[in-house]
Amino acid sequence: MANVVVVGAQWGDEGKGKVVDFLAQDADIIARYQGGDNAGHTVVVGKEKYVLHLIPSGILHPDKKCVIGNGVVLSPQRLFSEIDELKQRGISVDGNLFISDRAHLIMPYHLLIEKADGEDRRIGTTNRGIGPAYVDKVGRSGIRVGDLLNFKVFREKLEFNLRKKVKILDESEEWVESTKSEILQEYRGYADRMRPFVADTSLIISEAIKAGKSVLFESAQGTLLDVDLGTYPYCTSSNPTAGSVCAGLGIGPTVIDGVIGVVKAYTTRVGEGPFPAELPPDMSHRIREIGDEFGATTGRPRRCGWFDAVIARYAVRVNGFTGMAITKLDILDKIDPIKLCVGYRYNGEILTEFPSQIDVLEDCEPVYESMDGWLTDISKTKKYEELPENARKYVERISQLTETKVGLVAVGPERDRIVVVD
Ligand code: GDP
Ligand code: IMO
Ligand code: MG
Repeated sequence: MANVVVVGAQWGDEGKGKVVDFLAQDADIIARYQGGDNAGHTVVVGKEKYVLHLIPSGILHPDKKCVIGNGVVLSPQRLFSEIDELKQRGISVDGNLFISDRAHLIMPYHLLIEKADGEDRRIGTTNRGIGPAYVDKVGRSGIRVGDLLNFKVFREKLEFNLRKKVKILDESEEWVESTKSEILQEYRGYADRMRPFVADTSLIISEAIKAGKSVLFESAQGTLLDVDLGTYPYCTSSNPTAGSVCAGLGIGPTVIDGVIGVVKAYTTRVGEGPFPAELPPDMSHRIREIGDEFGATTGRPRRCGWFDAVIARYAVRVNGFTGMAITKLDILDKIDPIKLCVGYRYNGEILTEFPSQIDVLEDCEPVYESMDGWLTDISKTKKYEELPENARKYVERISQLTETKVGLVAVGPERDRIVVVD
């Protein structure tokens, strides 16, 4: 297999974890390039269900290397609890997990700032400190994994940051001193545990590619949560889109051979923000129950809608998809008819391109076309030709609307419930 990016095409939770786990069979390295533990990627192997937040979804294959790249913001506390949980379940990360020394750390004050910010405006974040950590990174005051390994530098940077945060949080001088000693104590422990995993991950990846190995680049979140290309400000603070693989891992665009978009057979969204093809509450509830659409990180109910081809076509454009994986087709088994949003009605016009302004999107009405359902259990399908005709027609309509080849169709959460389209 070549070096391929796997990107969410909608608002996250498309089933990237499952698709990455499947494709990881043929890869040597699986690397995360952005986001943090706001992600929740589910992989089901037999009766075991794993939800990965920071560690790449390739970790369940013991012979693969996993990389957390420089573009990720990393909470050491969350990292080690994830590692401990995996260890308890017999999955080891020793010797096969590599963390970039350039990745930025999520600090306890990032969570406090996010909480205070959330009281002023509702975006419905995951409350993991992601936004404030990226603010510090871009503002050039962030603390990086490499700093943790040189504790003198870590202490200096911490002092500098606490001087700034005390004003933002309207806290006292005592707060600075007590927070400083708590963080120093806590993070000294993390430094010792982190050391064996820390590496120049850009070098690891480029040497592997030179040696003919293949790398799978795993996005967190999805295209519409991208801070540049998504539904700003109702988005995350990083770039999940494919272009950010290079900056997030320290590689050049010339080593990327393909980009696979993961698209759910319908649409979901967690958190606030406009959602043109959102279903009315009764139908949204029905899909949520059948599809078990509850956040893998926060447990929040996901808002559900029909498949939106305007979004999918936009995702094809901004990521340059060379192929798509459709997930959760089985969830539509009992739905008839099935609708697809093919355009937006706005101010008496039909828009077929995704608008950039949130106020425009808020006023968009979906234009639907309708297809007959298949009303058959497809979850045991092994070959694409075995799918009922109407299910194939639905897949083919998505492919036609997006002008993109569908290479994989997932029909269940388990590892083997996936059909390759020849
Ligand atoms: P991710 O964040 O993109 O990795 O997606 P999540 O793990 O947050 O959400 C996807 C959910 O759908 C998880 O519970 C998966 O186990 C489940 N899932 C993935 N693909 C399929 C599928 O084809 N059919 C069904 N029924 N469930 C799936
Ligand atoms: P995966 O990788 C779905 C959403 C949050 C919120 C917005 C900003 O599992 O697909 P943040 O905490 O990132 O500042 O929150 O982004 N969000 C996700 N929604 N899946 C995710 O990750 C998400 N990560 C963040 O709900 O609306
Ligand atoms: Mg998820």
